[in-house]
Amino acid sequence: MFWQKRLKNYFIHNKGMDENERLLKKIENKEIEVGVVGLGYVGLPLAVEKAKAGFKTIGFDVQSEKVDLVNKGHNYIGDVVDSDLKKLVEAGMLKATTNFSFVKEVDFIAICVPTPLDKHQQPDISYVKSSTEEIAKYLTKETIVVLESTTYPGTTEELVKTILEKGSGLKCGVDFYLGFSPERVDPGNLIYKTKNTPKVVGGIGKDATEVIAAMYRAVLESDVFEVSSPAIAEMEKILENTYRNINIGLVNELTILCNRMGISIWEVIEAAKSKPYGFQAFYPGPGLGGHCIPLDPYYLSWKAREYGFHTTLIENSMVINDGQARYCAERAAHILSHHKKAVTDSRILVLGIAYKQDIDDYRESPAIRVIQELERAGARVDFYDPWIREYKDHGQVRTGIPKITPQAVAEYDLVIVTTAHSNVDYDMVQKNAQAVFDTKNVMKHLKARENIEVL
Ligand SMILES: NC(=O)c1ccc[n+]([C@@H]2O[C@H](COP(=O)([O-])OP(=O)(O)OC[C@H]3O[C@@H](n4cnc5c(N)ncnc54)[C@H](O)[C@@H]3O)[C@@H](O)[C@H]2O)c1
Repeated sequence: MFWQKRLKNYFIHNKGMDENERLLKKIENKEIEVGVVGLGYVGLPLAVEKAKAGFKTIGFDVQSEKVDLVNKGHNYIGDVVDSDLKKLVEAGMLKATTNFSFVKEVDFIAICVPTPLDKHQQPDISYVKSSTEEIAKYLTKETIVVLESTTYPGTTEELVKTILEKGSGLKCGVDFYLGFSPERVDPGNLIYKTKNTPKVVGGIGKDATEVIAAMYRAVLESDVFEVSSPAIAEMEKILENTYRNINIGLVNELTILCNRMGISIWEVIEAAKSKPYGFQAFYPGPGLGGHCIPLDPYYLSWKAREYGFHTTLIENSMVINDGQARYCAERAAHILSHHKKAVTDSRILVLGIAYKQDIDDYRESPAIRVIQELERAGARVDFYDPWIREYKDHGQVRTGIPKITPQAVAEYDLVIVTTAHSNVDYDMVQKNAQAVFDTKNVMKHLKARENIEVL
């Protein structure tokens, strides 16, 4: 009995040397067809890298506009080189579809769909569920499935595995491989891209980890770090993002204290940075933005409650970071009152809608929350962002001013810098603005500072 069980477990977790070696050989020979589900900031660069490495790739998305753009060779993601996409499409190495029946044709599938929060700040896992259900309908034997979306520990084994097995009638570890490999893309980063950022891989069983890792090694210039389970890989991703969230929370809290004490937090951080070990610099700002750092820790807090556990440090950090937009609006009101103006009916120009510099993504952007706070206080707010002409807030489209000229800048009672874009003429802004509130310290190199207040 004991030996029978051991033998069964052996076959479940080590599907047999032959099959694994055959798959590894296919990976080496680029005979694997790749599917990438979700062609957004994460999925499109991944699909392009896989195709560039010589794997025929199909991208799946529910948005037919994105699918059409890809099939026409038109790029819409900043981190993808336009000509790369065009060449790959023309060469027949990359195509996109809304039709999931093409899942039958691929041997490797990476799921890169959104994992936002719902209106109660709880994980909205519906995109992972619905895409996995579609994949399950067409899943064939020996397919390798990897979840890349950031999520709570347990998603791959508890949710994705269950849906795939139920929908396909196949058995994970016997008929198909499954694992988790978190995406670490940092949009706008000029050094680290999809291709040279190390990957972490945790599969269900050693064989799964091995083949998934081989698939990434075949494409990336960077290292692949193998871990013993999907839950480790899921948790390490949340650790990465929570680490940033909490450290930003710490400097945001200290910023408020330093302001009361008449100390510059920016100079404090520069001084702390002189320590060659044990300190990493994080900077304050109007709050957190993007699809990762403000959201992912909530995934963990939510899951922790299942274990009767409260992630108090994380939740306190959220409170601090979420309060930054209001704090910035209050500081703006103080600046106006120093100029003998009231915030009500004041004209304010917000410089930057993107959640970080040099990108066009405004998801969860703190600049939008700053605008909401200012308007609630009665201010008349315009915005300018060299990367974003318009944005949607609660269904309403807001259009920015088309460009900033000396005359335009001079018309506002206050200019607030909310994003540190590098393609803005800050010298001109300083020279012409009545008052500037620089929440990113982006004007730190300017000598003339009489009209600038820094966060
Ligand atoms: N953007 C980042 O900087 C970043 C970094 C690391 C990790 N992540 C994580 O990667 C995941 C994807 O993020 P993103 O920024 O690429 O999102 P995104 O919104 O840019 O792209 C997701 C794509 O998935 C598509 N989609 C939604 N439901 C689908 C379905 N059922 N089937 C097929 N396609 C579907 C959407 O149409 C969209 O094109 C998230 O979990 C996110 O947390 C994002």
